[in-house]
Amino acid sequence: MHRFSYRNGRLMCEGVAVEEVAREVGTPLYLYSYNTILDHFRKVKSAFSPVGALVCFAAKANSNMAILRALAKAGAGFDVVSGGELKRVLRAGAHPKKIVFASVGKSIAEIELAVKTGILFFNVESAQELERIESVCRRLRRRQRISLRVNPEVDPHTHSFITTGHRASKFGIDRKTVIKLFQRTAEFPHLAFEGLHIHIGSQILEARPFRAAIERALLLVEEAKRHGVTIGTLNIGGGLGIVYHKETPQTARDYAKAVLPVLKRSGLKVILEPGRFIVGSGGILVTRVLYLKSSHGRQFAIVDAAMNDLLRPSLYGAYHDIWPASANGRLRPARYDVVGPVCESGDFFAKNRKLPKLHPGDLLAVMGAGAYGFVMSSNYNSRPRAAEVMVRSNKWYVVRKRETFEEMIQSEKIPPFLR
Ligand code: LLP
Repeated sequence: MHRFSYRNGRLMCEGVAVEEVAREVGTPLYLYSYNTILDHFRKVKSAFSPVGALVCFAAKANSNMAILRALAKAGAGFDVVSGGELKRVLRAGAHPKKIVFASVGKSIAEIELAVKTGILFFNVESAQELERIESVCRRLRRRQRISLRVNPEVDPHTHSFITTGHRASKFGIDRKTVIKLFQRTAEFPHLAFEGLHIHIGSQILEARPFRAAIERALLLVEEAKRHGVTIGTLNIGGGLGIVYHKETPQTARDYAKAVLPVLKRSGLKVILEPGRFIVGSGGILVTRVLYLKSSHGRQFAIVDAAMNDLLRPSLYGAYHDIWPASANGRLRPARYDVVGPVCESGDFFAKNRKLPKLHPGDLLAVMGAGAYGFVMSSNYNSRPRAAEVMVRSNKWYVVRKRETFEEMIQSEKIPPFLR
């Protein structure tokens, strides 16, 4: 349940009218509901409390400092995938022993920073990476816990671009190689092989593939024992789906119910890394209609946000609901292609979408934009990046100023020969 709803025909985020923030801050604008995000974090946390799971928010889904801070204060751990994310979550107050670090391509500098920080686990994605972490730890005279990310080879039935646990994926290590690595632990005296990690994909709506992947991982835990390796922690990844359109995803409780029995039986410590489930429905992208035009029987609503602000429709063909910020007396519906100003045919938010009759100046909310929204934005077409605002009950706070033109070009340099 998110906290965006209509009151007297006005779209509200908790106790604040979307219109009011848009008027003051301008558009395009990301608007986050603090209480929605916290609720979702607590839902996962409490569903998995029977195994005392550590919930590590996948910072890639939304790494705004205010959101990271809110989750850190609520006791969340973090899943990071770069030195930048690691620095962000530390700055936000994350406890090092609640940080796990994934990524198929960790650099030496990133590994060094994480080892010095004393993070909980590296989720290791190749034999060469393992060797590199060992050599960094040897040089720093540190011992580090690692989890091998095994590719469980299950199909999570989601979009192919966000499927990660199938056989041909670049992610994880295949089972046979994992076993070989268990046989080589003596070569890694600075590493403690204490964890296994799986992550099969994102926006997964049912529990079955998760359960299948967990069962496969548990077989591998048994196999590890035969090689003298005691795995104490299983990281079951993220991937919980949310409602974008008409999906009926499992709740955190359904998911827990399906996987807790096997997890409990294993006696392992459990880590989860949800991103989208925590922040996805807690954010919207607010945009203003600039122009309307029709062409060959199609009606276009040209808005001031674009694919550089929210890439998901262009990149994945993702569906996002679009709600008008004001529902007053506009009930005569029409069909629109809602498109941005960027010079690409792929720059759209919705195609042939039924909406109340629109007028220039109307505000629209692209729903479900809290995850993989702002973080995937760019300056394409030299468009400054949007502002971000967080609402908590009836107060709102700018948590990222709109980028200015000067900020956008500040690191660019004209070489002397062109001066
Ligand atoms: N753990 C690992 C290792 C991951 O790779 C991911 C996401 C997560 C956790 C968090 O997954 P979530 O709970 O958010 O599903 N940009 C795409 C999604 C990419 C997901 C990448 N990995 C989108 O907009 O749908």
